[in-house]
Amino acid sequence: MGAVATAGAGAVLGGFAGAPQARAEMEFPLDRGDFGGGGSEMESVCRSENDLYDCEVEGDLPPDLDGMFFRVGPDPQYPKPLQYMHDIPFDGEGHLSLFRIQNGHVDFRSRYARTQRWKAQHAARRSLFGMYRNPFTDDPSVKGLSRGTANTQIYFHHGKLFAMKEDSPPVEMNPLTLETVNDYYTFGGDLKGQTFTAHPKTDPVTGEMVAFGYEAKGLASNDVFVFSVDRTGKVNWSAWIKVPYVGMIHDFGVTQKHVLFYVCPLATNMTLLRRGGPHFAWDSTLPSWLGVMHRGGDGTDIRWFEGPGYMCTHTMGAWADGEKIYWDMDGGDSNQFPFFPQLYEKWSPVKSVGRVMRFTADLNNRRQKFYGIENLYPGVSGALSRQDDRYHTVPYRYGFLLSSDRTGGSRWAMFDQQTRTARFYSPGPDTSLAEMCFVPRKTGAPEGDGYLIGVASRRKEYGRSDLILVDTQHLDDGPIATVKMPYRVHGQIHGFWVPADQLTT
Ligand SMILES: [Fe+2]
Repeated sequence: MGAVATAGAGAVLGGFAGAPQARAEMEFPLDRGDFGGGGSEMESVCRSENDLYDCEVEGDLPPDLDGMFFRVGPDPQYPKPLQYMHDIPFDGEGHLSLFRIQNGHVDFRSRYARTQRWKAQHAARRSLFGMYRNPFTDDPSVKGLSRGTANTQIYFHHGKLFAMKEDSPPVEMNPLTLETVNDYYTFGGDLKGQTFTAHPKTDPVTGEMVAFGYEAKGLASNDVFVFSVDRTGKVNWSAWIKVPYVGMIHDFGVTQKHVLFYVCPLATNMTLLRRGGPHFAWDSTLPSWLGVMHRGGDGTDIRWFEGPGYMCTHTMGAWADGEKIYWDMDGGDSNQFPFFPQLYEKWSPVKSVGRVMRFTADLNNRRQKFYGIENLYPGVSGALSRQDDRYHTVPYRYGFLLSSDRTGGSRWAMFDQQTRTARFYSPGPDTSLAEMCFVPRKTGAPEGDGYLIGVASRRKEYGRSDLILVDTQHLDDGPIATVKMPYRVHGQIHGFWVPADQLTT
């Protein structure tokens, strides 16, 4: 098990060298499929921070629904220099929005996270950071600043709202105003690693938030810092582990007793980085590794189970029965991010199709070397799996997925793991859906009883956005309420719901 993947097929990686070229004017490329598109609907750049009081609502918002739906995504602040114009879609600056829902009314606000990167570029009126997670390509003036974009996910814990990018510490935001409070939040200095996941988990029994960061001792380090934070924000446990090889660890799993890591062949590639490319390349010669360690320990007990070179990104749910762990993720047979270079073969759209996979490993079985694999719903494809967030770490029944139908249309899937059945909300061919988030019908509602909330983009209206709310008891009936936005909101990777009774400010 090596450390950093340094394999480099010269022909594949050779396109990134050359001297930086400055752009004189403020202009995004016409072809916005790469960085300029920011990964958003219709490959658009938004850049506009907006407020809209009392949005137009069609249908009936539940009068007792009281909370905030947050979302975040990459929205390029400035075009890259010509040399890096082909940067990947994930490298735009984090643009957050919130929909405040209360008494049947909806107010909207969007703001960029004022990261260290955003502030430096704002002052310079140009892009200063080069390729995705590649400090070798930065303008010398930003040396020492955090490269974090805060563009991936929102999370709320100990009364604080965080915007996160997995290459840097979280950025604290005011949950009511979306003003940036702290551009480098370190849990009182106890975040010993340099990085922080976009997908922490909250233990519903203890209230602890469990989190980790990979490449935690610097670029391409094989060190992972894992820790938990109590209800007050105090770090109450931490450990360091090492991974079999360095690659993307976008999400992780947590049970009541264990922490689970998945290392997949989207490997950190120093050859690529030194040539000015993005951070990762797909190395199909590598296996995947599923690591299991105990919470509360020092990390020396971690045990790695081997598997095929799948690419899995998001956890649907994880739990343990004694020392046997169950971990549901969405994943494909190969690279799901075609904008990262392939080292040895062409990217395969067929192999990239995501399924809901169940991985198992039994710590009591000393002879088990490979983790178990089950495709839970062979006929359903998709990505960005979610669950009722109140069921992190414990056995769960309902999972959710941004799915696609046979025609390529998007839909939201809801799985009943007990009956192994799936139900869908399909908006029709002229609408594309972003990832949804589950909203409990009320405090204490049964698991899965509530609403799915998320943004729909109307293709025939140049991507105009609606926020839709679907009742999980009646997915087929379509939205019970539609918040009709008069424009196209910024792009999104993830969203997060915070009920009003959790807000303390
Ligand atoms: Fe994610």
